[in-house]
Amino acid sequence: MVRLARRDQGVGTSRRMTSTATIETTMSYSDTAPLTLRCSSTDELRPLAEAVAEVLAPNDVLLLAGGLGAGKTTLAQMLAKAMGVGDDQYVSSPTFALVHEHRGRLPFYHMDLYRLTGEEGVELAGLLDYFDLPGVCVVEWPDRMGSLIPAERLEITLIPETDAGLTRIVVLVPHGHSWCLRLNRIASRLGLTTIVHP
Ligand SMILES: Nc1ncnc2c1ncn2[C@@H]1O[C@H](COP(=O)(O)OP(=O)(O)OP(=O)(O)O)[C@@H](O)[C@H]1O
Ligand SMILES: [Mg+2]
Repeated sequence: MVRLARRDQGVGTSRRMTSTATIETTMSYSDTAPLTLRCSSTDELRPLAEAVAEVLAPNDVLLLAGGLGAGKTTLAQMLAKAMGVGDDQYVSSPTFALVHEHRGRLPFYHMDLYRLTGEEGVELAGLLDYFDLPGVCVVEWPDRMGSLIPAERLEITLIPETDAGLTRIVVLVPHGHSWCLRLNRIASRLGLTTIVHP
């Protein structure tokens, strides 16, 4: 996995040495910069899934965006595994059921809103109730939610680099103070150096 870019308006920084690199992490509370990664295979998504899973807490919302076949379900499966969802609970795309519930370190609610046409469908299906439950909601096709999208969330967008290739550009955008802080932890866990502009 190759880090592409991270724009930061850092206020302070911390550094620590690892055996392989100097990791520099911005400590700015106003940092809302996206993190952009390049994954050249599905295997390269796994460390990202593990880093995200590690910081997940009750009531968290993860939005997985991207076109057909971008890799949203693939990433959801890796997140579920990293959250301790057992192999006995196969994580498939809930295109028809709209939501599948799995048991892991936290309850894991996997939604696929592809078939819904808009906000009304989301409300009628009772999906908003899941955001109040003390689990983690992972949502494919979040654009269907329109203005109902929760304010606090981490948005992960997968973009195939070419039509048929394996490489995905993965963009993580934090919304809300807590996700801004946690995105720094994710970057740090991945061993990414954050560029801090004075
Ligand atoms: N780097 C990669 N990251 C993710 N998936 C990849 C990658 N390279 C190849 N793939 C393949 O692309 C396919 C993605 O399918 P997946 O069902 O995860 O997409 P999706 O975004 O959920 O599609 P849909 O919009 O139909 O729900 C899988 O077969 C996966 O193995
Ligand atoms: Mg899918």
